[in-house]
Amino acid sequence: MAALLEVADLHAGYGPTDVLHGVSFAVNQGGITTVLGANGAGKTTLLRAVCGLIRRRGSVTFGGAPIGTRSTEDIVRLGLAHVPDGRGTFVLLSAEENLRVGAITRGDRKGVAADMERMYGYFPRLRERRQQQAGTLSGGEQQMLAIARALMLRPKLLVLDEPSFGLAPLIVQDIFSIMRTVNREEGVSILLVEQNAKLALDLADTAYLLETGSVVMGGPAAQLRDDETVRKAYLGY
Ligand SMILES: Nc1ncnc2c1ncn2[C@@H]1O[C@H](COP(=O)(O)OP(=O)(O)O)[C@@H](O)[C@H]1O
Ligand SMILES: [Mg+2]
Repeated sequence: MAALLEVADLHAGYGPTDVLHGVSFAVNQGGITTVLGANGAGKTTLLRAVCGLIRRRGSVTFGGAPIGTRSTEDIVRLGLAHVPDGRGTFVLLSAEENLRVGAITRGDRKGVAADMERMYGYFPRLRERRQQQAGTLSGGEQQMLAIARALMLRPKLLVLDEPSFGLAPLIVQDIFSIMRTVNREEGVSILLVEQNAKLALDLADTAYLLETGSVVMGGPAAQLRDDETVRKAYLGY
């Protein structure tokens, strides 16, 4: 399968300190890749580096084009949508206004209206709460809104930073099932970083383990799921 996103020997960090030490991984066209790692392993830093939000060095190609030195704005326009940790919704805007902001780079009004309907189809709770200020939504609803807002870009790649964090198991199942639908039915590729290894390995086709800024294992998700080290350290059985 051809790679949509290909990262090789990526170094990145804050100030003079490197957090990532030569990370390599890929997301297949139409695929779902997960990067697993404990708290502090560098998962958020990895996504920030891919999206051009922090200093980075190494090779990053997206759809065959090098993006390792492009601005975040350019990267978004190429079709990479980032749902950051902590969600990053505009708390003072309504749910619907947040969705409109997600489509701000698009000119096709009819398409935007249709996509908004599609998002309300995926997330009926957002339709009920469309006029409500985003900051007053529950954690689960805010995560749904953040994902819906990212999808309003019509991205080729959806990049998610621990979407399960702090949410009730039923809400998490809901959100993961919608990610699977979006991937299968709309062909959106997904890069997911997670501490919840079980859910992520069930969803993904390809997985990597990140430890203190380095990839220590990578391969088909099923293979990692069956690996004894992974089971003991990340799945707890
Ligand atoms: N804005 C920042 N400035 C300086 N150091 C940071 C910053 N954000 C994260 N770090 C450091 O980078 C390392 C990896 O953090 P992070 O990427 O957030 O890990 P994870 O998302 O896997 O929990 C940690 O040691 C953390 O302290
Ligand atoms: Mg993080």
